[in-house]
Amino acid sequence: MRIRPFVPNDIPAVASIVREALRENYPTSLYLDIHRWWRDGFLVADLDGHPVGFLASVITADGQARILMFAVTSGFRRRGGGSAMMNAFLQACAMRGLKRIELEVRVSNAEAIAFYKRYGFEIAGALPRFYTDGEDGYKMLKHL
Ligand SMILES: CC(C)(COP(=O)(O)OP(=O)(O)OC[C@H]1O[C@@H](n2cnc3c(N)ncnc32)[C@H](O)[C@@H]1OP(=O)(O)O)[C@@H](O)C(=O)NCCC(=O)NCCS
Repeated sequence: MRIRPFVPNDIPAVASIVREALRENYPTSLYLDIHRWWRDGFLVADLDGHPVGFLASVITADGQARILMFAVTSGFRRRGGGSAMMNAFLQACAMRGLKRIELEVRVSNAEAIAFYKRYGFEIAGALPRFYTDGEDGYKMLKHL
């Protein structure tokens, strides 16, 4: 698996990972906007020319990174793709001089919470009814 920057041609593949792994549907313009805002913070895990995962982030007004979306398609998990993207992302944050990374995760998403803890993220608070279906979220933070 090769980690590379997102390019607009990836949109159909990324949108299909979003539907399958995150159960969301976003307009094409959202991916283009994220790409425009911070190119180094939008990464793809590529297997033989096909995206099998991606990480999309923004830099927030207060100068920290926020992970917006992070997923590996279900058949390719536990093969190090998520770790490779997270390591590349942490490097991009360091290059940019960022000091903190934040993200939100569903309280029921034990896999992702275990993954983030392994990378030094800590639960920083609860987000009651954060998701549109009413589920609570956790805010997780990592200091760089
Ligand atoms: C979170 C996610 C991106 C991790 O991707 P991945 O490619 O499976 O991650 P890796 O293979 O690099 O796993 C690295 C480590 O994370 C931890 N981890 C990953 N999946 C795990 C699971 N199901 N249960 C417990 N620990 C897990 C393990 O420590 C794992 O190392 P190991 O396989 O050597 O034990 C992936 O599980 C995913 O796409 N989940 C669905 C979408 C999602 O929930 N995204 C986050 C939304 S906030």
